[in-house]
Amino acid sequence: MNKIEIRNLTKTYDGETNILEKISLNVREGEFFVLVGPSGCGKSTLLRIIAGLEKITDGTLRIDGQTANDMLPKDRNLSMVFQNYALYPHMSVRDNILFGLDVKKISKNEQQSRLKEAAELLGLTDYLKRKPRELSGGQRQRVALARSVCSQSPICLMDEPLSNLDAKLRGQMRTEICRLQKKLGLTVIYVTHDQVEAMTMGDRIMVLQGGKIQQTGTPLELYNAPANTFVGGFIGSPQMNFASAKLTGNTLVLNDSIALPLTSEERENLPDGTHWQIGVRAEQIHFAGSGNTASSVMVVNTEMLGNETQVIFYVGDQLFTARWSGQFMTENNRPLKIHMSPDTFHFFDEQTGQLIRPAIHVQGPAELSA
Ligand SMILES: Nc1ncnc2c1ncn2[C@@H]1O[C@H](COP(=O)(O)OP(=O)(O)O)[C@@H](O)[C@H]1O
Ligand SMILES: [Mg+2]
Repeated sequence: MNKIEIRNLTKTYDGETNILEKISLNVREGEFFVLVGPSGCGKSTLLRIIAGLEKITDGTLRIDGQTANDMLPKDRNLSMVFQNYALYPHMSVRDNILFGLDVKKISKNEQQSRLKEAAELLGLTDYLKRKPRELSGGQRQRVALARSVCSQSPICLMDEPLSNLDAKLRGQMRTEICRLQKKLGLTVIYVTHDQVEAMTMGDRIMVLQGGKIQQTGTPLELYNAPANTFVGGFIGSPQMNFASAKLTGNTLVLNDSIALPLTSEERENLPDGTHWQIGVRAEQIHFAGSGNTASSVMVVNTEMLGNETQVIFYVGDQLFTARWSGQFMTENNRPLKIHMSPDTFHFFDEQTGQLIRPAIHVQGPAELSA
């Protein structure tokens, strides 16, 4: 069942520019739905519209099957967690967690039992008497989550809740939020500008750019078949490598610079036409030793991460990054042989940037079993 349905939603503040344009989406019950996009693309505005804090200019919003365009925020039965936690500094952790339940006329007994459960779930039992300033950033974020859990709202809206935390804590909280969401069966709409959060947390992801939907799908759908160059470049790290590609005889020439000889199978797998924009992921560029189908490139820089090596080189006037598992010693300004197969390229329309043919081979998929 759809918890939230949005049809052709448009939002403008000044009557001229659309901050959001023709947004349509369904969020299913129990789903972890991520809205991701660069700063200013309209994520918070969309979340605030769902919460009832902003008016809809055009289109419809339905919550639990009911039209909700003009429903009061308090009747929407949802909770919200913000980036800045919105905790009351003069109130104890306990009172912060229970905030709002008196207004909802929840009995003291019920409040106590919800508090106990939420505090245990989030590891806050020993901190209930403290003030927010006596907590770490991660603990404060957990208080905000505990409040959301205590409200027992079936829908939880989160706006960049982890962006104030350091990297290690962010990783832990990602796991914690997902665990909690599944355990409580919450429907979550989670806003972030961080594609790693989107990929690791979302059941489905919607990518927004300039107030318009670029693509909606599962993390692997977005990774393996990005609808356009924007999604290709936004999802994945290091960034997808882009180049112009021209078919000349039996070779594919990238950026008028390196020529890849095609096998007959690779030739047949090419989409119609003779020139495209291609995107290739860093892990699909291989070290070729002295292979005869190898291309020679000049190393610009090497980033040694211990577990993997990222090698940066020019293809024509564009920098490419290759990513190899393990420790590769190279020197800058030295030639290096690499191998790329057009079967691993994503082909995009040169003008529109729309996907024409996704990569045929991706690494994996592999089933992990005991
Ligand atoms: N109250 C407002 N009045 C006018 N413009 C606004 C208002 N709130 C946000 N905007 C504009 O709407 C766009 C989207 O903002 P926002 O939804 O906050 O983006 P995001 O959360 O993706 O960073 C921005 O260009 C922002 O300047
Ligand atoms: Mg925002």
